[in-house]
Formats: sequence, C-alpha cells, structure tokens
Amino acid sequence: MKIIVVKNYEEMSNRAAEIFAETINAKPDAVLGLATGETPLGMYNNLAKKYEYGEIDFSRIRTVNLDEYYPIDPENNQSYRYFMNRNFFSKLNINLKNTFVPDGSTKKPDAFCLEYESIIDSFGGIDIQILGIGRNGHIGFNEPSAEGLHALTHVTELTPSTIEANSRFFASPDLMPKHAITMGIKSVFKAKKIIILASGVTKADAIREMLRGKISAMCPASVLSLHQDVTLICDKDAYSKI
Ligand code: GLP
Repeated sequence: MKIIVVKNYEEMSNRAAEIFAETINAKPDAVLGLATGETPLGMYNNLAKKYEYGEIDFSRIRTVNLDEYYPIDPENNQSYRYFMNRNFFSKLNINLKNTFVPDGSTKKPDAFCLEYESIIDSFGGIDIQILGIGRNGHIGFNEPSAEGLHALTHVTELTPSTIEANSRFFASPDLMPKHAITMGIKSVFKAKKIIILASGVTKADAIREMLRGKISAMCPASVLSLHQDVTLICDKDAYSKI
C-alpha cells in the first residue's frame, strides 16, 4: 500500500482530486466507484471546480456508489442517492442515467444486490474507487466480522457504533435505518485502483488498526493491504497513532 501523509483535510482532498482527474482524462468513459460521508466531500468539490474550469469532462463517465441505507426512499434527504445528487452530480455535466447508487426502496433486496453486482461487471469493473473509513474500520458498510471477506453486494445490519456515528444526521436516531445495501469486500477488491482517505483524530484508531493490526474481518479496511493498487491519503491527525 502506498501511503501519503499530508498536512490537513484540504491537502488530502486536493491530492485525491488530482488522482481522479488523471484517471478521467486518461479514460473519458471511466467507471468511478464513489463513497458518501464527510471525508470525500472536499475531493468532490475540487473535482466540480476542475469541471467548471474546463479541465475535466464527465459526459461519458459512469459511477457506482458503494452503499445506501435500507430501507430508505431515494428522495429522503438523508439517502445516499440524495447526497450524491446534491453534493456532486448536480455540479457536473454527468448523465444521471450513468450514475448508480443501490436502491434503498427496492422490495427485492437480494435480487437487487445480484443485479447491482452484474451492472458493475457489465462495465468491466471499477477503474478507480474512493473509500472513507468508519471509526470501527468499516469500508462501505462492511462492518467488523459481519460478513467475512468474501461478500459481494449484500444487505447488512449496521453496528451500534455506526448507528451512533451516523444518526446525528437524522432528525431522531429512531429514523435512521438499521440496515444497508453495500458492495462487499470482494466487490471493492475488483476495482483496478483504490484510494482510501482519512482525516482527523477520530480516524486515528481505525488507521492504526488498518496498518498495524492483523489482517482480519474485525477491521475490514486491514484487508486492503492485499490489493495490488491501493493508496492511503491521510492527514497528520488521522496518522497520529502510527
Ligand atoms: C459511512 C459510509 C462509509 C464512510 C463512513 C465514514 O458509514 N458508509 O462509506 O466511509 O461513513 O464517514 P465519514 O467520512 O463521514 O467519516
């Protein structure tokens, strides 16, 4: 794993946006694997600026998102579909039909998961995947030990730690869905290139566990060291326990 330690969130976001822009310019119909959460927002803003300045073009780009709460209406302002439209897609010349986020309103979640995986495969896989990291080392919504390391896209039960971390965004914790649809570790591993971002002291334990702990399903991010092309871009605070 390549590790880049930077000063702060802004620098992390710049570096990540540069790498994404290079991929997009080298392959105008690239498949981008995208994530939600606060961490990639700065990168998304940087990429939107690059688009505004005419440095990159999204007209042929396809995107697949890692995860979505389940059940949730895509119109709900806490859904990840809403998050992506608002924070990224609406700022670009991307065709929304080329953007895929798991459908939180599906009535047949298991069939949907199979279909989602085959959409990714039909694209020839993901060219570059952005990841954040949960405080407990989760990636996407692959929670510690929940599904093992061989899962493809699946429905998962969220852990109390994740519910606590994310319920702040909902009007009341009871309104937060307790399940999610997420790409599995095996789906993520199919990406040709992976960039994982971490910023702030709240991620320091997860980064230590990922880099210094055993490779184990107890810290899903630890498995990334087995992938052939992973870059961690992390600020000093997130790296402070190494
Ligand atoms: C959620 C998402 C993850 C994300 C994590 C960290 O649980 N499913 O994809 O990496 O939160 O979020 P944040 O970047 O806000 O710390």
